[in-house]
Amino acid sequence: MSDRSYVIDKMISAKRIAARIETLAREIETHYSGVDKLVVVGLLRGSFIFIADLVRELGMNIEVDFIEASSYGNSTESSREVRILKDLRGKIGGRHVLVVEDIVDTGFTMSHVMHLLRAREPASLRSIVLLDKPARREVPFTADWTGFEIPDEFVVGYGIDFAQRNRNLPYIGKVRFTE
Ligand code: IMP
Ligand code: MG
Repeated sequence: MSDRSYVIDKMISAKRIAARIETLAREIETHYSGVDKLVVVGLLRGSFIFIADLVRELGMNIEVDFIEASSYGNSTESSREVRILKDLRGKIGGRHVLVVEDIVDTGFTMSHVMHLLRAREPASLRSIVLLDKPARREVPFTADWTGFEIPDEFVVGYGIDFAQRNRNLPYIGKVRFTE
């Protein structure tokens, strides 16, 4: 699959992403006003650019931590089996936690991760995803904040990969196979 030739059609420009993140950051600041520290948890690896841009827009006291969850393989189909490959470094019990994810597709990854973190009894637990593909949902999951809803297309860029490629594109593009 990953050795097939493809081109990338631009879907969401870097400028639109930046503008949307500014808006989301203002909503997040308002929501957490009065909270003295927020733990921002990025899901590796796809969220690394989104979380970097998001936290630089947040005018509040934050800590950053990461968790890595993976489904198997390099396929465009998400596996149902979610494994934790790398857990948080810090404890989240009694703390305010915001989980940052690149994209919600079937919903398996985020529902699993949120369930796992909720069991650690944070003071609050919310989520933000850059992209949502609601048409592909298999288990119920709705993020508290969403960047963009997109159609059922395989996308890359802005941290998101296809078989580990194209994460460094500054925009979101959709993969179109040419053979
Ligand atoms: P879910 O568990 O099916 O919701 O899948 C979420 C994960 O699948 C995301 O964190 C991505 O790593 C991956 N994924 C889903 N859709 C895409 C896509 O269009 N491009 C690249 N990765 C994707
Ligand atoms: Mg991912």
